Amino acid sequence: MIYITRRERFNAAHRLYREDFSDEQNLEVFGKCSNPKWHGHNYELFVTVKGEINKETGFLVNLKQLSKVIREKVIVQLDHKNINLEVEFMRGKLASTENLAVGVWEELEQSVKSLGAELHCVKVTESENNFVEYFGT
Ligand code: NI
Repeated sequence: MIYITRRERFNAAHRLYREDFSDEQNLEVFGKCSNPKWHGHNYELFVTVKGEINKETGFLVNLKQLSKVIREKVIVQLDHKNINLEVEFMRGKLASTENLAVGVWEELEQSVKSLGAELHCVKVTESENNFVEYFGT
């Protein structure tokens, strides 16, 4: 079993909040990310897939194809968008990095299988110091 990771980047706006909370409660629970006027992050997305090396190519997957899949399935939906308002797979969910990682996983799982590999990890970094990793369960 071998693992390979592709990084893609996107920037997006979001707000962490609950409608049933006041602005004060949202600030207390979600901190600066609850700003009612939105804010953005430069996110990084690391997609790790696993499988066996193809003897003919020496590759696990063709990284150009993996990059294309990631861009077509998730980056176009996210880049320069408002995660709360515009991203179909985040509809009705809190726009946290955790939920984002799970959403990205669900968007990519089948397409990665079609490339002959298996999704291993979706890592989303929201800032230099904070990142989330999701392994499918
Ligand atoms: Ni934020």
